[in-house]
Amino acid sequence: MNKDFDALCGGRENLIRLAHKYQTPLLVIDKQKAIENIDTIKNALSLCKISNTVAYASKAFLCGEMLNIVKENNLSLDAVSGGELFLADRFGIDPQKIYFHGNNKSVQELTEANDKGVTVIADNYEELELLEKIAKKPQKVMLRINTGIEANTHKYIATAFTDSKFGILHNSDDFKACMDLIDNSDKQTLTGISSHIGSQIVEAEPFIQNAEILTDIIKSLKRPLCLNIGGGYGIKYLKESDVDLFGLISKVAAAINEKTSDAVGCVKEVIIECGRSIIGDAGITLYTAGFKKTTPHRRYVFVDGGMSDNIRPALYNAKYHFENLSRNDTKTELFTIGGKLCESGDVLGEAFMPHNTEYGDIIACFCTGAYCYPLSSNYNLALKSAVVIWDGKKDYLALRRQTYNDLISLETRGDL
Ligand SMILES: Cc1ncc(COP(=O)(O)O)c(C=O)c1O
Repeated sequence: MNKDFDALCGGRENLIRLAHKYQTPLLVIDKQKAIENIDTIKNALSLCKISNTVAYASKAFLCGEMLNIVKENNLSLDAVSGGELFLADRFGIDPQKIYFHGNNKSVQELTEANDKGVTVIADNYEELELLEKIAKKPQKVMLRINTGIEANTHKYIATAFTDSKFGILHNSDDFKACMDLIDNSDKQTLTGISSHIGSQIVEAEPFIQNAEILTDIIKSLKRPLCLNIGGGYGIKYLKESDVDLFGLISKVAAAINEKTSDAVGCVKEVIIECGRSIIGDAGITLYTAGFKKTTPHRRYVFVDGGMSDNIRPALYNAKYHFENLSRNDTKTELFTIGGKLCESGDVLGEAFMPHNTEYGDIIACFCTGAYCYPLSSNYNLALKSAVVIWDGKKDYLALRRQTYNDLISLETRGDL
């Protein structure tokens, strides 16, 4: 049974306790919910008759505790930077299980990947040329294809439109040149074809079309290859919305079965790279309510965080569900939840909350596990929040809150 919002992170009383124990803003991660999501994804993908692998997309949220979840659940890892490779290495992730994405990897990043035996997902022809020059060891490569599937999501998180910066257009001269280069290389071996069409997509059709195009490409290459279908599976941000993760992925698995039934062996493995759908709804951000203000058309309640810990509402108008955990009066009013940063766009959202919402109340913003902490900033020199894990029985710090000393840790003046 899926936990609904009310049961997450031990529920209301537990969240209030955590807010007081660790102070706010605070990101609380429900570890069991993340594992439940991983199991849902594994179970749906395993309907595929072909061997299959679930990778966690680091960019959604990464820290040592998250990498422990990756290891404990035997996931592979999608990384996109030297920093993510570094952390994965520090926390003992097997390099053979890492897929290295990115449209402009540096010489240093590619050298490290080659040295460690990480699979590189090449995003363009020039990357393969560079890899050919610098690789000292045999290199496994996959090609990221832009399949041209324009999914229904915000344009900032769509990735497979024709003019996207990501991927090699399929059926293009570029693709042929990439294949020529790899086929004539004695260092690089093509191990798979990959594509990621965007994020927070809640319909199966674009994923199916994408997987079908990739399978056709693999068939045309006439060699056994991995089919890396990327991530992007949407989550339920609002209580009233409805997203069926198992349904979405199982439909894609069924489509892959159908598409490969006449070409057994051409796809040797199916890889999925999920970020948001693993960690997104496992996270809750807790704030403390501050001042209120009423304008002719709005009633604001300000919180002690904002766009520095969650840029998504300002960046792409993302919507969230909020609750005042400190009160349960049924008489509610529409509040605009304003952050404390110096930008008019620093508004986290709107929510009906108890009319008597007051200074000091604990306000929860749900589904903040993905793309909030990684996109957080020190704008206005706001301190990054702490991250706490709730494992169903106990809580522990994954990342401590920043301190003012952290803010000067990069300064070069010795007298500070
Ligand atoms: C190549 C690739 N794979 C996987 C993902 C994960 O997407 P999501 O978090 O929506 O599952 C992304 C996100 O940008 C991506 O670029």
